[in-house]
Amino acid sequence: MKQWVTNQDGLDKLRLVDAPEPSGLKEGEVLVKIHSVSLNFRDTEVCMGEYDHHKTIDTGSEVVPTSDCCGVVVKLGPGASDLLKEGDRVASTFCQTHLTGQIVEKDMASGMGLPLNGCLTQYRVFPAYGLVKVPDYLTYDQAACLPVAAVTAWMGINSFQPIGQPLRGKDKFVLLQGTGGVAVTGLQIAKALGLTTIITSSSDKKLELAKGLGADYTINYKNTPDWDEVVLNLTGGRGADVILECGGAQTLAKSFRCVAFGGLISAIGYVSGKEDAVSNRINANLLALCRNVTFKGIINGPKDRFEEVLRFYESERIEPVIDRTFEFEEADKALQYLFSGGHFGKIVVKVQ
Ligand SMILES: NC(=O)c1ccc[n+]([C@@H]2O[C@H](COP(=O)([O-])OP(=O)(O)OC[C@H]3O[C@@H](n4cnc5c(N)ncnc54)[C@H](OP(=O)(O)O)[C@@H]3O)[C@@H](O)[C@H]2O)c1
Repeated sequence: MKQWVTNQDGLDKLRLVDAPEPSGLKEGEVLVKIHSVSLNFRDTEVCMGEYDHHKTIDTGSEVVPTSDCCGVVVKLGPGASDLLKEGDRVASTFCQTHLTGQIVEKDMASGMGLPLNGCLTQYRVFPAYGLVKVPDYLTYDQAACLPVAAVTAWMGINSFQPIGQPLRGKDKFVLLQGTGGVAVTGLQIAKALGLTTIITSSSDKKLELAKGLGADYTINYKNTPDWDEVVLNLTGGRGADVILECGGAQTLAKSFRCVAFGGLISAIGYVSGKEDAVSNRINANLLALCRNVTFKGIINGPKDRFEEVLRFYESERIEPVIDRTFEFEEADKALQYLFSGGHFGKIVVKVQ
């Protein structure tokens, strides 16, 4: 079989190699024929050797990149039939051992696409507990979009809500940053929950697409660098109840200025940088306490929340937004395209 590998030394250095098809399944394992993979910003960092902010994860070694896939179970190991059967359509979970509750540090060792080999491969062995069954209405490509983007966006909104009782209501404002995988997925989820949405982008064209998905308000953060003031105006001076903080260095201080008093900022990403500018260093403690903000780090979510997301997707018939699909042989080009930031929503690689 074929699979992609990276030595974490550059997006132009990935290699498509021959590898033996896995055999000899152990207790509780299943073999999955992978149909579709979706890409995440993290995958580009792994391939460039820049995914270095978790101290439990070693960079530099050879690894099969990417974490998110959908495929079909083609073989069961001993004892795996308790959870799955041959022919089940399944999606991977991000940290394979994170099954419920808050993530703990040892779960980081089971991260797909680093430190574990990921899913840019034709066949992969999984522990049966590291997979979720996907609803029939989703195609392989669509379901592959969900493990990281949808679970992260869901947890960004609902991490303090009990399972089965997500945040709802038009009076609740959610701010989404940019129009990448997490933000567009978050927009779809927030709309389906009946929340009021504000989304930012550097592109008016992408903001038009966001309006097409039901975005209530849009802001071009390039033309309107003081977008935090616009958010305050749009919310009658109150601020956004929930902010999915995907931007990082260039957005966080502004998010603290336009979050509602007592609101939630979910710390998700750093697409605008990992280090604050020297001129912009108001202490985060002060920023959080001024408006009684909850600032919550998010590392994806557990398997039982992914299953909650899938039930919600099925009931609302949400279809993930796929910007572009690439053939398996073009997976390196797909990662470069993601890194260019030209996309709106998700990018998919068709494996077979
Ligand atoms: N914590 C977690 O569990 C978790 C899970 C998933 C992702 N993440 C992180 O979240 C971030 C987003 O991930 P992703 O997969 O959605 O990435 P992505 O699809 O590559 O998103 C890229 C988009 O980010 C937007 N962007 C860039 N600079 C921005 C800025 N200054 N302000 C607002 N938006 C900006 C751009 O949107 P426009 O083109 O519209 O301007 C760009 O298209 C990444 O840092 C990723 O590592 C974390």
